[in-house]
Amino acid sequence: MARLTPEVRVWESADALFRAAAAAFARHAADARQERGAFRVALSGGETPRGVYALLAQDPVLRASVPWDRTEVFWGDERHVPPEHPDSNYRMAKEALLSRVPIPASHVHRIRAELPDARDAADDYEATVRSVFGLSEDELPRFDFVLLGLGPDGHTASLFRGTSALSEQRRLVVSTWVEKFRADRITMTPPVFNNAAAVAFLVSGEDKAEALQIILEGPIEPAKYPAQLIRPVSGRLFFFADKAAASKLSQSAAVERPSS
Ligand code: 6PG
Repeated sequence: MARLTPEVRVWESADALFRAAAAAFARHAADARQERGAFRVALSGGETPRGVYALLAQDPVLRASVPWDRTEVFWGDERHVPPEHPDSNYRMAKEALLSRVPIPASHVHRIRAELPDARDAADDYEATVRSVFGLSEDELPRFDFVLLGLGPDGHTASLFRGTSALSEQRRLVVSTWVEKFRADRITMTPPVFNNAAAVAFLVSGEDKAEALQIILEGPIEPAKYPAQLIRPVSGRLFFFADKAAASKLSQSAAVERPSS
């Protein structure tokens, strides 16, 4: 497997990273609306995305540049908890962003992780994705933009080392038992992420430095470092990192300066 050349952007601080990623979100949204009439985005959980969501809701210029009435929101993964639970990725995005912007409720497609069996939640979400995108049996959705986090262990979305989700080729969404949390998660699968028009990893903090170095510069071992599975087949791959997360990269990427 050859190495894919991602577009790596390093920012001085986490705040500068949030701003750049929020601007990228807004840009991809405006472009998708213009080209296809709608913007379909998959959100991630985690602390780094939260900073981006908060800015999109609060910054008047960014907020006004997203066509919210043409935006359809999905989740790349979810914890197996009800929507009001503190661990819910849906709840986080709702509190930080979705309850603060004029997005129609019918455009918010959450994973029904309150279902007692995580497999049912995965099946249900796969059916939702198929229906909103109007897919036939063998088609994949093409998201305009996918936000992903990176765990210090190299996981992304809920694609964890040692799980069968990593090799899933047929399903769009699966449930996956994550031993280290002793919990089920529900996650989109690598073929879905890899069919997106653009995927952006948001990586902040020193505890991510080793994982980021391995993902970008280490040997290609996706079974150990699942984030290496993400390689859009006809799309762009971005890494937005802050200086702390990029501190172990040998090919020291130039630190970007905010333009405003
Ligand atoms: C989740 C995520 C997960 C997350 C990473 C990074 O549900 O937790 O989707 O993949 O994005 O673990 O999270 P942080 O940004 O909080 O470090």
